[in-house]
Amino acid sequence: MLPAGAWRSGAIRHGHGYNLARPRNAGLIPEFFVFDMPASPDRSPSVPVWRIDTDALHRALAIGDAHAWTVEVVEETGSTNADLTQSCRTAPWSDDGCHVRVAYRQTAGRGRQGRPWQGQAGLTFSVAMPLALPLSRLSGLSLAVGLALAEALEDVDHALGARVGLKWPNDLQIDGRKLAGILIESVPAGPQRVWAVIGIGLNLVRDAQMEAALGRDLAGVAEAMTTFDAQQDPTRILAAIANRLARMRNDFLAHGFAPMAARWSARDAFRDEPVRLLHDGTVLAEGLARGVDGDGHLLLETPEGLQRIASGEVSLRGAQA
Ligand code: BTN
Repeated sequence: MLPAGAWRSGAIRHGHGYNLARPRNAGLIPEFFVFDMPASPDRSPSVPVWRIDTDALHRALAIGDAHAWTVEVVEETGSTNADLTQSCRTAPWSDDGCHVRVAYRQTAGRGRQGRPWQGQAGLTFSVAMPLALPLSRLSGLSLAVGLALAEALEDVDHALGARVGLKWPNDLQIDGRKLAGILIESVPAGPQRVWAVIGIGLNLVRDAQMEAALGRDLAGVAEAMTTFDAQQDPTRILAAIANRLARMRNDFLAHGFAPMAARWSARDAFRDEPVRLLHDGTVLAEGLARGVDGDGHLLLETPEGLQRIASGEVSLRGAQA
């Protein structure tokens, strides 16, 4: 666990890890991605073999919008979101003090709506982002984060970015398969101050185990990139995301989500499609998805008229799903 304020050092820290052994095959995960570990009842056998190149990451952030950000990389933790929400409760406030915590493995990763998030075949990290705004002004933030992520992937590889769609409120998908999930938790720090803890799980490759656990088809960036370098691309992707998130943060603080709504709509995977909104498996509403408004609400055309849906704990599904 990060001691309060420990991320203010300005350095990228790297955790020390396991003794990695030989690669093994694990379903859809390419061999070079997964290493054997000694079997133990409380531990999944796989951790990724790729590593974040902290020097390269530092260089990429230094020349980008995230130049003031700090990053730490750890081998394993319960949940990077849990870690940072805990740290934010006591962290000293700084208007620009964004901090990233990356974990190669989470033992209790959290997804939306209380679901677990394994994400062994992906980048899993959280950003503690101070926002000098009242809680009521965070509307649309989760959509803004999804958009920043999609645009970061486009920065890294045009072919990849061109295929990424957004599923309200903030899933990234490729051809209907989930590429990334975002979980935002907030920690109030005063009347006009809130820490947004933005957790991101981005699949690098498809992971059969996780598909089974989530009950959803998944996508991975590797399959959609022009070429994928397992050693360098996770670092490039992380840097691009941090730089895009930093830019998004500035824009969001100044103007909110509204000026981003058109870019979001251009990637809307369900635009004008029949959809259902679910909560805990129960259908709450059905209609045609008509995009989003300036607060990030979904516009749902129903027989009763146009409804504006706030994200909360609602899931969107295609009407056929
Ligand atoms: C979703 O359910 O779609 C959101 C998944 C978010 C997972 C990420 S992985 C890094 C961060 N730490 C967590 O415990 N969850 C988020």
